[in-house]
This record gives sequence, C-alpha cells and structure tokens, in this order.
Amino acid sequence: MSHVLITGANRGLGLEHTKRLLERGWHVSAACRQPDKAEALRALDPQDGRLNIYAYDAKDLNAAKALKAQITDPIDLLFANAGILPDETKSFGSAANDTLVHQLMVNTIAPLALVEAFADQVAASEMKVIALQSSRMGSMRDNESGGYYGYRASKAGLNAIGKSLSIDLTPRGITTLLLHPGWVRTDMGGPNGLLTITEAVDAQLDLIARAMKNPAMNGRFFHVSGEDLSW
Ligand SMILES: NC(=O)c1ccc[n+]([C@@H]2O[C@H](COP(=O)([O-])OP(=O)(O)OC[C@H]3O[C@@H](n4cnc5c(N)ncnc54)[C@H](OP(=O)(O)O)[C@@H]3O)[C@@H](O)[C@H]2O)c1
Repeated sequence: MSHVLITGANRGLGLEHTKRLLERGWHVSAACRQPDKAEALRALDPQDGRLNIYAYDAKDLNAAKALKAQITDPIDLLFANAGILPDETKSFGSAANDTLVHQLMVNTIAPLALVEAFADQVAASEMKVIALQSSRMGSMRDNESGGYYGYRASKAGLNAIGKSLSIDLTPRGITTLLLHPGWVRTDMGGPNGLLTITEAVDAQLDLIARAMKNPAMNGRFFHVSGEDLSW
C-alpha cells in the first residue's frame, strides 16, 4: 500500500490531499498542529488503520525528529504542505519582525528538516517522491507588484532548498518537486481564488503521478497546470 506523510493536513489543500489519497487506497500519515481539534481530518478516518494523525508544529525545529520517532514505514510521497502568509510580513516599513522569523521557520526551514528526517524512508519506498508546496510568489521573474516580503522570501528560499535536494538526493532515486498549486480558494487563498480546492488537488496529484514515471521532472518548479515556472 502506498504511504504519504503530509503536513498541514487538517484544512485547505492538505485536508483535500488526505481525502483524495484515502479514497485511492493510500495509507496517510497526517501531521497537524492540534489533532484533538482537527475534526474535519478525523472525520475522514476510514476506520481501517489507513489514517494516522500526528501532532506536528512546523515552528519547532525538533518536530520532524519527533515525527520520525513515531513513523517508521517507507514513505512513497513526502508532502511538505503546511505554510503561512501572515499580514505582519507583507508591507515595506514593518516587515522585518519576529513574525518573519517564524514564517521562515514554517515555510522554509521546516520542509528541509522534514526531508532530512525522512529521506531514508523515502529512498526505501517504491515511488520515492518529495513534494514541496511552494508558490509562484517565490518567483523573482514573476514579481511585478512587490510587497509580500516574508511570503516571497520564504517560498524563494524553499525553492532553493528544493533545487539542492533534487541534486543531492538523485543518487538515492528520489524525485523532488517544487509545486505551485494555483490560486486556490482556501483560507489562505481567499474567496477570489481561481481554483476550487478539489480542482487544485486533483491536478497536483496528476502532476505527482507523472513525475513518478518521468525523472526529467526532478528539481523543477511547476505550476499546477504542468507548466514550468521561472525561478
Ligand atoms: N491557497 C493558495 O492559493 C496557495 C497558493 C500558493 C501556495 N499555497 C501553499 O499551499 C500550502 C497550503 O495552503 P492552503 O491554501 O491550504 O492554506 P490554509 O488553508 O491556510 O492551510 C494552511 C495549513 O498549514 C498549517 N500550518 C500553519 N502553520 C503551521 C505550523 N506552525 N505547523 C504545522 N502546520 C501549520 C495549517 O494548520 P492550522 O490549522 O493549525 O493553522 C493548515 O493546515 C501552503 O504552503 C501555501 O503557501 C497556497
């Protein structure tokens, strides 16, 4: 049975990925900050042992190691999805603050800590894919409107990390993808997003399935449409 470890699984894109993968027969290790309050996630439990929920706070540098102590199976898909876009780091004049440090921890450093903790288990799996939930707002070329200092920097940093991972982990047969899900109607994306959560997740899962058969997709930054995005 294929196994995914996904963060930010209690709402938005992470919740829908969990739902879809459970429907497809996967074993899902779902990480979220407060499992006891994750009603929507717990409601997906097929009660057959395929959904395991773990406490995980990406702000904590030791969180990935603590997860590793609990999850020992091979991991076909490691999906670093959790992310934040706080208002406090958007605007010039007041963006350099403690919230920015916190944002870099969650959006940039935590995904690397996860991969460092779980690379051996990904390498031991059949599919061997790492998906990093990035954003086209991390693209330098795409930045024509400025602002969003924390979010843009954190996703650009994630892209740099993903590119190095794609090189360093190639000898172990691992494919690393940087993914932009589109502008999606989640709590983060807001009501004007262009895609529903279901549309974005279905398209992301198709892209990931293609990458499993196509090593040339390793280390690239993809729009959910399958187009390459500029760094
Ligand atoms: N929606 C879009 O249009 C869009 C576009 C580009 C990229 N993305 C990226 O897609 C990913 C998911 O976004 P979304 O739209 O689904 O956003 P969302 O609905 O706001 O969900 C964010 C998820 O991240 C989790 N999270 C936040 N801080 C965390 C922490 N410290 N530790 C663990 N989990 C934490 C949240 O958990 P809590 O409930 O505990 O806060 C929640 O599960 C993010 O990385 C985002 O940057 C989204």
